[in-house]
Amino acid sequence: MENESRGQWGSRVGFVLSAIGSAVGLGNIWRFPYMTYKNDGGAFLIPYLIAVLTVGIPLIILEVSLGHKTGGSAPTAFSKIDKRFSWLGWWQPLNSLIILVYYSVIIGWALNYIVFSFTQAWGTDTNAFFFGTFLGVTDSPFNLGGIKWPIFIAMTIIWFVDWYIVYNGVQNGIEKYNKIMMPALFIMMIILMIRGVTLPGAAVGLEQYLHPDFSKIFNGQVWIDAFGQAFFSLSVAMGVYCAYGSYLPQKSDIVNNAFITGFADTGFAFLSGLAVFSILGFMATESGAPFDQIVAQSMGLAFVAFPRGISMMPFLPWLFGMMFFGCLLFGGLTSSISMVEAFASGVIDKTHGDRRKIVTWTCLIGWLVSILFSTGAGLLILDIVDHFVNAYGVVLAGLGEAIAIGYFYGTNKIREHFNPISDYKIGTWWDIMVKYWAPFIMIIMSVINLVAELKAPYGGYPFSAILLLGWVLMAADLIASFILGSRDWEKNISTSRGGK
Ligand code: ALA
Repeated sequence: MENESRGQWGSRVGFVLSAIGSAVGLGNIWRFPYMTYKNDGGAFLIPYLIAVLTVGIPLIILEVSLGHKTGGSAPTAFSKIDKRFSWLGWWQPLNSLIILVYYSVIIGWALNYIVFSFTQAWGTDTNAFFFGTFLGVTDSPFNLGGIKWPIFIAMTIIWFVDWYIVYNGVQNGIEKYNKIMMPALFIMMIILMIRGVTLPGAAVGLEQYLHPDFSKIFNGQVWIDAFGQAFFSLSVAMGVYCAYGSYLPQKSDIVNNAFITGFADTGFAFLSGLAVFSILGFMATESGAPFDQIVAQSMGLAFVAFPRGISMMPFLPWLFGMMFFGCLLFGGLTSSISMVEAFASGVIDKTHGDRRKIVTWTCLIGWLVSILFSTGAGLLILDIVDHFVNAYGVVLAGLGEAIAIGYFYGTNKIREHFNPISDYKIGTWWDIMVKYWAPFIMIIMSVINLVAELKAPYGGYPFSAILLLGWVLMAADLIASFILGSRDWEKNISTSRGGK
């Protein structure tokens, strides 16, 4: 029976699949393989694994514990440990909301590409098709160029599905649909990987993907990319794990669950890389083109290079196209519902309002903003917003979290909460990671990003666009967090499990 007031997971497997569902997403399927290649192959895996083990998983443990201990999602959890950090509790789900408004549009692209797979509607010039025919990209983020209806319709469907799942609650919505989508996602990716590595020329791609250039280990940018990728991919500092942790029953093996989530996410990313690069190797071999001309930049990898590879496949190309974009769809949906939940649960806890109404309003507002990303300027706006919210919003909210717990609340109080209920106990290394290592890394990341920003505007966009869609948006995000955090919700605070 679902806990009437807030909801509770029906099973451990339901929670673990939902946490993995939040982590595994677009970031694993198109971003991880590309980042690995960009940073010269296999040697990237070492900084990435270090990022996952030393910052990613420790922060997942922290966030799940915080939600579990206080019995509340991020806004409630942070205000309970220290009123001065109420704003921090809002900042994280607000970042999620910002990510959601463009993330759901990218999932909408994938939905369109599932349909295109049947006839390989992208034709032979997949680049012109994606950027021209499909996205209709304009020359400036301020030149909207009208709504692209196939994108609008798909984005609306995605918001509807998000709404439907989260509206139905923790057990009958999030858990139920993750239990269906996550196994389906893993099965499709394994089939794709097997198909990929058995294609002629796959070894050429795998060599590019995995060959380690150890000299790169000493390149600072590789480490920044690895930590940035791990942050996005693991969904840390987005308010997700606090909310999901708050629905766990009293006796819950937090440590093991966090490790399973982190390793499953990393394993899935690695698997995606095998599938994507073996297919790219096949393309290079078939077309006789050099490998570096086959690989497209970031988004282009999934929506330009991959469709070309699908069209070249000798057997059932439409099926493998559908599976690849189906992976993006399912991976994206399970992540996006976690971000809707991160925000909506914050409002539910603070207002004691009706889940259904709050989820409906959250999705309606999110959908309205997403319309902007369905225009010809969508990709350009998305690129700037994505850069700023991840480089500053998420990283700084993570930094705030590590400082709040490390220097004000006390890591020992969190460790003393999760260790007795976990099968595997962790020592003071966790405190060191949260208190010293994670803040150090996040400060370095922010400084390096800021220096790059000051040298040249991100992506060569006009300064006015960077100012409005980057800095002003980030400032508004933070100000909104302070306003929400300073509001006196006290009389409505939910009944908690343990309080301070
Ligand atoms: N963690 C999610 C992803 O990787 C946001 O796409």
